[in-house]
Amino acid sequence: MDRIRIVGGNALNGIIPISGAKNAALPLMIASLLTSDTLTLENVPHLADVEGLIRILGNHGVDIAVNGRREHQDGSYSRTVHFTCRTVADTTAPYELVSKMRASFWVIGPLLAREGQARVSLPGGCAIGTRPVDLFIEGLTALGAEMEIDGGYINAKAPKGGLIGARYTFPKVSVGATHVMLMAASLARGTTVIGNAAREPEVVDLANCLNAMGAKISGAGTSTITIEGVTSLSGARHRVLPDRIETGTYAMAVAMTGGDVTLSGTDITLLDTAIEAIRRAGAEVSAVEGGIRVIGHGDQIRPVDIVTEPFPGFPTDLQAQFMGLMTRANGVSHVTETIFENRFMHVQELARLGAKITLSGQTARIEGVTRLRGAPVMATDLRASVSLVIGGLAAEGETMVSRVYHLDRGFERLEEKLTRCGAIVERISD
Ligand code: UD1
Repeated sequence: MDRIRIVGGNALNGIIPISGAKNAALPLMIASLLTSDTLTLENVPHLADVEGLIRILGNHGVDIAVNGRREHQDGSYSRTVHFTCRTVADTTAPYELVSKMRASFWVIGPLLAREGQARVSLPGGCAIGTRPVDLFIEGLTALGAEMEIDGGYINAKAPKGGLIGARYTFPKVSVGATHVMLMAASLARGTTVIGNAAREPEVVDLANCLNAMGAKISGAGTSTITIEGVTSLSGARHRVLPDRIETGTYAMAVAMTGGDVTLSGTDITLLDTAIEAIRRAGAEVSAVEGGIRVIGHGDQIRPVDIVTEPFPGFPTDLQAQFMGLMTRANGVSHVTETIFENRFMHVQELARLGAKITLSGQTARIEGVTRLRGAPVMATDLRASVSLVIGGLAAEGETMVSRVYHLDRGFERLEEKLTRCGAIVERISD
């Protein structure tokens, strides 16, 4: 199993190209199940989760062609992938595939809308809380589907003639359930109005792509989304939006180590709340042409309290990284997690680097220390693992991060991007 070795202490200087967003690419890829034409996606990141979903979609009958990767001047790659699902080969998403990645559960929406039925295993994914599927069941039921749980699977069946548009308000904001409702309602008869919809930029990206395919969706990016059903969708060409979580992660890394880095190919407006928190912590962050410039001052980090919330609040996917940054602040800060239970598994690993963190319910109290010391640590989930990398970059001596397959799920060429900016980071394959 691969490990990542980091020797901390170097400032980061240079350019880091930001990849296409994993959390946008996954639902966009799944949307290819809605049409028999080709959906072409540009800027698809090369990640374990994307490769996993390619296998899953192949199982449902999607033909996939990947254009060669081309390296650009700033070191970025862009991958264009063509997805064609002439006919759906299988409406079952088996446990072996869905258990590896929660987002693959979302195939339930397009399969149900296009084929009138789906049998999808209950999901797996990151071990961060229980992550139920009640909102998907309620939402699809509102569109007329019969939903039944049997032996670890959900059997979903649309009424004769297909799903029916309806008004449905989510009792709780869910990104995944919003994606699924957008896809399912696009091919339903009549109009659907979703209340309390997720407002994440990835939801807007999916809606834009579906509209390019012929859907009639308005209001994406607000809490109320209206979808007028159409009888069929066509192919389209769409560029995956930049990864705001990767953007925020590297911005926090620079704030932590000090240095001057331009994050290219990204957009500051995708993560206002996180940028605000990074600025309050003392780093200078500004929009520059084609990206964001971050100037960090390393040892002068100010303590900042954050609370995770659905977009536009502080993203839960940056919580661990921000906590990493706060471990070296000049004072006490608090990080409160409101989206997922049990998303503090990085706390004990950060403690191995010398961080002083105490937990009380969903709030962590972080007492900044003047120095972190390198240590062997273990990645526990995707975002937690990158907080250990950030910690390692600022720690004295060597940090060895094991179980890096978590990182590979969501961060494209992390070692290379950091090394180009002066960090000492290497992958060790045993
Ligand atoms: C997506 C992101 C993930 C991010 C999360 C929150 C992808 C591939 N993943 O995950 O990186 O951390 O949004 O921003 O885009 N919930 C229920 N019932 C349901 C569904 C969800 O109670 O049926 C709860 C969850 O347990 C959680 C909350 O709703 O507490 C938010 O989850 P959700 O927005 O659905 O997260 P995902 O879409 O799985």
